[in-house]
Amino acid sequence: MKKTHILGSILFAFFAIGNSAQAQIYNPFAEAKANAFVDSLMSKMTLDEKIGQLNLPSVGFDVTGPVLSKDVEAKIARGEVGGVFNTFTPIAVRKLQERAIKETRLGIPLLLGYDVIHGHRTIFPIPLGLSATWNLGLIEQSASVAAKEATADGLNWTFSPMVDIARDPRWGRVSEGAGEDPYLGSRISEAMVWGYQGKNIENLSKQNDKLMACVKHFALYGGAEAGRDYNTVDMSLYKMYNDYLPPYKAAINAGVATVMTSFNDINGMPATCNEDLIQGILRKEWGFKGMVVTDYTAINELENHGMGIGKTVAARSIKAGAEMDMVGELYLLHLEYLFAENPEYLKYIDRACKNILLSKYRLGLFSDPYRGLDEKNQSVMLSVEHLQSAQKAAEESFVLLKNENQVLPLKPMSKVAFIGPHIKRKRDLIGSWSGAGDWKKSVSIWDALTSTGSTVKAENIKYAEGCNLLEDLELIAKLNPHDGQIESPKDSKKLLKEAMAVAKKSEVIVVAVGETFGMSGEAASRSNIHLPVHQVEMIKSLHTLGKPIVLVLMNGRPLVLTDVLPYCSAILECWFPGTQAGPAIVNTLYGKNNPSGKITMTFPQNEGQIPIYYNSRTTGRPFDNNQKYTSKYLDVSNEPLFPFGFGLSYSNFEYSNLTAETKGTSVVLTAEIKNISQIDGQEVVQFYASDLEATYTRPKKQLVGFEKVTLKAGESKKVTVNVEQSQLGYYDQKGEWFFEPGIFRFSVGGSSQTTLNKELKVLMTFKPHVTPEF
Ligand code: BGC
Repeated sequence: MKKTHILGSILFAFFAIGNSAQAQIYNPFAEAKANAFVDSLMSKMTLDEKIGQLNLPSVGFDVTGPVLSKDVEAKIARGEVGGVFNTFTPIAVRKLQERAIKETRLGIPLLLGYDVIHGHRTIFPIPLGLSATWNLGLIEQSASVAAKEATADGLNWTFSPMVDIARDPRWGRVSEGAGEDPYLGSRISEAMVWGYQGKNIENLSKQNDKLMACVKHFALYGGAEAGRDYNTVDMSLYKMYNDYLPPYKAAINAGVATVMTSFNDINGMPATCNEDLIQGILRKEWGFKGMVVTDYTAINELENHGMGIGKTVAARSIKAGAEMDMVGELYLLHLEYLFAENPEYLKYIDRACKNILLSKYRLGLFSDPYRGLDEKNQSVMLSVEHLQSAQKAAEESFVLLKNENQVLPLKPMSKVAFIGPHIKRKRDLIGSWSGAGDWKKSVSIWDALTSTGSTVKAENIKYAEGCNLLEDLELIAKLNPHDGQIESPKDSKKLLKEAMAVAKKSEVIVVAVGETFGMSGEAASRSNIHLPVHQVEMIKSLHTLGKPIVLVLMNGRPLVLTDVLPYCSAILECWFPGTQAGPAIVNTLYGKNNPSGKITMTFPQNEGQIPIYYNSRTTGRPFDNNQKYTSKYLDVSNEPLFPFGFGLSYSNFEYSNLTAETKGTSVVLTAEIKNISQIDGQEVVQFYASDLEATYTRPKKQLVGFEKVTLKAGESKKVTVNVEQSQLGYYDQKGEWFFEPGIFRFSVGGSSQTTLNKELKVLMTFKPHVTPEF
C-alpha cells in the first residue's frame, strides 16, 4: 500500500527552521561583533595578505602525503600563512606564533592544527574501538581529555572527528570512524564535537582547554569503491542523504567550527571543487557558518583527476568554497593572477579569508594568540585522571565475540600460557593516527600481568612469543618506511616449539595476535582481511594440545575470523586499545572488567560478502534456502559472522515486554531487561525500526535508539527511549526529507539480530518546530 507522500508547505516551514540548525547556536550579538571586527581588519588587508590567510602548510614530522611544505618560517614572516599544522609543544608553537604576531604587518595570529584523533598524549582506543563502547559520555570525555592535552601543547585546532560511514572493512580507514550506522555515527559525531569544543561555540574563546574541531572527510570518503583508499565514490542521492551524510550533519548541528573536504570524487565531481556539496548542501541546506579546509594537497590532486592544471584547479576550488589550502600552496601561487584576469575572484578570496578570520576570532586568538601556551599546563599530560579515563574507555571497547564453556573470565589460580607477539609488543598498542602519543609509554599485556600491583601470581603465568607478527616480507617492506619496528621474521619453527612447550604445561592458552598498527589507517587497504596464515597455523598447532584457547585480537578493522573460530573457545576483540592496553586487557581476562562492547561494523564470513551491513535495503526476493531464485550465494550464507551491535558479556541478559506507543511527537519504546546471571554487567539495549509501508524501499531495520545500562546480578530494569517521529522520516531520491505515516515494526535486543517485535501505526503528529535528526 502506498502512503501519502507528505511534502509541501508544512514541511517547507519545518525545513526552513531545521536547516539553519548551526545558525541557531551562534549568538547574534557576539556574531555581529565578530563580523564588525573581521570586516574592519579586512578593510586594511592587501590582496596578498588575504591570500596568505588561505595557506595551511605543515611544519613537523607527521607527513601523510607525497609533498612537504618548505620555508614555512620565512613564509609566516612574509604574511603568506594563515595556519600551520603538525607542530606542537609550547616552545615550538610560541616561536611560530611570535613570527606571525611580531613580524607581519597586521600581526594576525596563526591557527595551529594537528591530527588529534583518539587522544593527544594519553591515547584512547582507536575510534572504531571507542565506538564499540556505545558510551556517548565516555566518548565525549575522551575528546575532552584530548582537547586538554592538545591545548596544553599549544594547539587550537584538531582534524577530528572523522565520521565517514564505512561498510567495507577492506578500507584501512574504518579504524578511524564509528562504523556503519548513521544513527550511532551521528550521536558519536556530536559527542566528539562537544568534547573538543564544548557545547557552546560562543564559549570557545573563554575556554583555553578547548579547541576547534574539524569534521571530515566531507563527503562520503568511506564509500570508496572496492575499499581502496582515495578511490572513486559513486552513490545515489538516496543513499547519500539517508546513510552517509547524517554524521556530518550531526557535527554541523553540534556546532563544529570547521569542515575538511575529502580526496574522493562523488558521482564524477571531486569533493574539493564540488560547489553543490560545499555551497549547496553544507552552506545552504545545513547553514554551516565555519570554515572549510581541504585535505592534504587535495587541490593539487585535482590535476590527477584530470580537472585541468594549477590555475584552473585553484580557480575551481576557491569558487566552490574550499577555503584553506592544506600543504598544496596553489592558492598562494595562482589566486593573485586569477584576480588580475577576472576581478570576480576577489569575492571568493574575501569569502574564504573572512571565514578563516572569523574562526580565529571565535577561538579568541585576536585577544590571546598564545592561548593555553603555559609550560605549567603540561602537568595535564598523561595525568592519573586521563589514564583512568583511557583505561575505562579501553575496557568498555572490548568485544567478547565468543565464550564457549565460559572459559573467560580466567580463574585466578589457573595455569595460563600467554602466547603471541602482542603479549609483549608495545609498538602497536596505540594504533594508527596516535598523534603525539608515545607508544613506549603504553603498557603491554605482559607489563600489566607482572606489574607490582598485579593480582596474578607469577608462578601461574608463562610466556612464549609463539610466532612472528608478520612473515610476509613484501608486506613488511611496504609497512616499514612509515610504520617501522616490524623486525625481520625470526625462525618460526623455533618460536612454535617454545610455545608448544609452554602451552603443554598450562591449563588455558591465551593467544594475542592480529594486525600491526600500520595495517589499518590511511593508505592501508587490504584485499585479504584474514589473520596472517602463519598466525592461523600457530593457533591450529596449539589447538592439538586439547586445551582451551582464548584469542585476544588487536586490529583496526573487522577481520574474517572463520578460519580460527573453530579452534578458539573464546575471542576477545580489543582493537588497538591505547596507552592503558595491558591493564584493561588483563582486567577483562580475569573478570575485574565484564566486557560490554558491541561491534559497530559487521564482521563478514568472507571478503566476497563485502559490502555487508545490517541496515541493507529490502529485496523482492529475500533469502530463502529452499528456493533457488532468491537473493543468496551458492557458497556462503547471507549471514555475517558477527552482526552489527553484537557482543557477549560474562553476564546473560533476557529481554521482555516490548511496548510501543505514540506520545506527542514521539514514539515511546519500552522494554524490560534482566540480568539472569550471577555476575554484575552492562548491556547495550538496542531499539530498531522497520518501515513496513513506504514509498521507497527502506532498510530492513535501522537503529533508532539505545541505552547502555548497568545491571547487578539478578536485577531487571525498564528501559525507555523516545524516538522522535522525525527520526522515522527519510530523504527521497532528490534529497528531500519527508515523513510517511503508517505501520512500523519496532524491535529490541542486544544486537541488530533482534527477536522481540512490536508493530505500531504511527500518524503524523509532529509540529513544524521539530528538527530532523537525520
Ligand atoms: C588525511 C587527513 C588528515 C590530513 C592531515 C590526510 O592525509 O586524509 O585525515 O587530517 O592528512 O594530516
